[in-house]
Amino acid sequence: MIIDGKKTAAELREELKKKVAELKSTHNAVPGLTVILVGEDPASKIYVKNKEKFAKEIGMNSEVIRYPANVEEKVVLNKIKELNEDKKISGILVQLPLPKHIDKRKVIETILPGKDVDGFHPVNVGNLSSGYDSSIPCTPLGCYLLLKKVEKNLNGKHAVVIGRSNLNGKPMTQLLLKENCTVTITHSKTKDLKAECNRADIIIAAVGRPKLVKGNWVKKGAIVIDVGINKTDSGIVGDVDFDEVSKVAKAVTPVPGGVGPMTIACLLSNTIECFKKLN
Ligand code: GUN
Repeated sequence: MIIDGKKTAAELREELKKKVAELKSTHNAVPGLTVILVGEDPASKIYVKNKEKFAKEIGMNSEVIRYPANVEEKVVLNKIKELNEDKKISGILVQLPLPKHIDKRKVIETILPGKDVDGFHPVNVGNLSSGYDSSIPCTPLGCYLLLKKVEKNLNGKHAVVIGRSNLNGKPMTQLLLKENCTVTITHSKTKDLKAECNRADIIIAAVGRPKLVKGNWVKKGAIVIDVGINKTDSGIVGDVDFDEVSKVAKAVTPVPGGVGPMTIACLLSNTIECFKKLN
C-alpha cells in the first residue's frame, strides 16, 4: 500500500475549511497566521509560499513578513513581540533555518507559547513530553496522522525513529509513546541501524540521507514513513529506497506526495487550535 499524503492532506484541508467557516459565523473572526521569512533560502521561499497559499485557500488570514538576510536580530524579536500582542494573529511561525547572527533559541522563546504553531517553544515541548495539551510540531503530527490511517491501534508496536532532531525525531517519539509504542530512537552514532530497523513494526525515517533505508532493512509487513526530502541528480528522493521497501512493507509513504503535504495541513490545523484557545 502506498500512503497517499497528498489526498489525505487535501481531505484534512477540506475539514479545516469547514471549521474556519464555522468559527467565522460563531466568532465573527477567522484564524490568522503570520509567517516570518528571513533571507533568500530557495527551499524556505517555496515552503512559505505554500503555507500562505493553503491558509488563504481554507479561508484563514495569512501574511508573510519578509526580511533581508542581514536584518538585525532585535528587529525580528520586536516584530514577534508586536504579533504576540495583536489579537488578529492566532499563529506565528518563523521559518527555519535562520542566518547565523540570529539566535534561533531567542526567536523561538519570544513567541507566545499560545501562538507557537510550530510547537517549538520549550513550554510546548515540555507539555507534549508530559502528556499535556500542547501545539505539536507539524511534521511529526503529519507522520502520526498518516500512520493512524494505516493502523488505528499502535499499542505495543515497536517503532524505530531514525533521527533525533527537535523538529521531528524527539516530538515523534513522544507521539508514539502516547500511543503505547515501544520506541527506539536511532541517530548517526547508532551501532547497527539495519539491525534496529529489522526489528521494527514502524519505521520513521528523518535523517536527510537519500535512500538510506533499504528493502532488506525492513521486516515484512512493517509500516514505513519517509520524512526525507533530498535533492539528488535524479530528482527529489526520500530517506527510504521506495522501490525496494514498497515490495516488503505493508505500507510506505512516497516522496514527494507523502509527509510533505501533511505538514502544511497540520500547520493550518495548529493555527485553528491556537485561535480557539485564544478566543
Ligand atoms: N523549516 C523546515 N521545516 C520547518 C518547520 O516545520 N517549521 C519552521 N518554522 N521552519 C521549518
